[in-house]
Amino acid sequence: MEKERAAQIKELQKEKDVVILAHYYVDGEVQEIADYVGDSFYLSKIATSVPQQTILFAGVSFMGESAKLLNPGKTVLMADECADCPMAHMVTKEQIAEVRGEYDDLSVVCYVNSTAEIKSVSDVCVTSSNAVKVVSNIPEKNIFFVPDNNLGRYVAAKLPEKNFIFHDGFCHVHKSIEAANVKAAKELHPDALVLTHPECTEDVVAMSDFVGSTSEIIDFATASDCTKFIICTEMGVFFELQQKNPQKKFYSVGHRQFCPNMKRVTLEKVYDVLAGLGTEDMEDKRIELSDEIMQRAATPLWRMLELAK
Ligand code: 13P
Ligand code: SF4
Repeated sequence: MEKERAAQIKELQKEKDVVILAHYYVDGEVQEIADYVGDSFYLSKIATSVPQQTILFAGVSFMGESAKLLNPGKTVLMADECADCPMAHMVTKEQIAEVRGEYDDLSVVCYVNSTAEIKSVSDVCVTSSNAVKVVSNIPEKNIFFVPDNNLGRYVAAKLPEKNFIFHDGFCHVHKSIEAANVKAAKELHPDALVLTHPECTEDVVAMSDFVGSTSEIIDFATASDCTKFIICTEMGVFFELQQKNPQKKFYSVGHRQFCPNMKRVTLEKVYDVLAGLGTEDMEDKRIELSDEIMQRAATPLWRMLELAK
């Protein structure tokens, strides 16, 4: 059934000129049929170069919004329009305006995991794989880093020459990974390396052998001579880790490494969107942003792509 669906999806994609982009946190069966799978930075970049007229996003809404902002002339559809990252809604425009009022020499650095509205009042976007590089290339000394407190602190530790103001946003999935969970996993697997996403808390980061985005974690494990790894990020990455490294062992740190929003995306929903494309039923899957937001929110994304080069 799964194979049959995958074949039908490929057929519909060809017929309707649709490219499927997926994040590493969606289910393996969706990653398998996607044309491109990657971390948030890779997906933003690839969205600017695909030839198809329609992009179908298997991920959460800020990813679809970014694809739309970078491709105003294309149609961007969400496999599930309710798949939304809670962290993306944690910072408000008012909070940003307040901090802007306090500093002359300020750059508002917006983690890409935020709404288009927040991007529209920010100076530059970052993802977990380029945040240190992008912030180091910003001329301003004062950095208001929104919304992820943990990623902000991770970047700040690498750039002591900057003055960081942090927001208190967080990813509930990564925050729920506690140092005690990592300690227990290390006791069970003493010869495993700990690979961690920078959305995790400072104490988990401090216990880690490597810290990076989802792609960077996968690349590190693949290039490493070590054969055992404890993975501190959402469980979706296990699919690619195992695909690329069938002979290596990957261990979780507990049962909470699960993003319910990413897991809303299923093969059936991808199929339904493709099958219904062009009908009124699919209108709510389409990313629609006002002209004003389209203009203002695209600038910090393009600036990120420029500064990350
Ligand atoms: P990256 O894939 O860029 O590491 O992002 C992680 C994440 O939490 C996306 O929601
Ligand atoms: Fe948001 Fe965290 Fe889920 Fe990523 S894993 S979409 S940051 S809640």
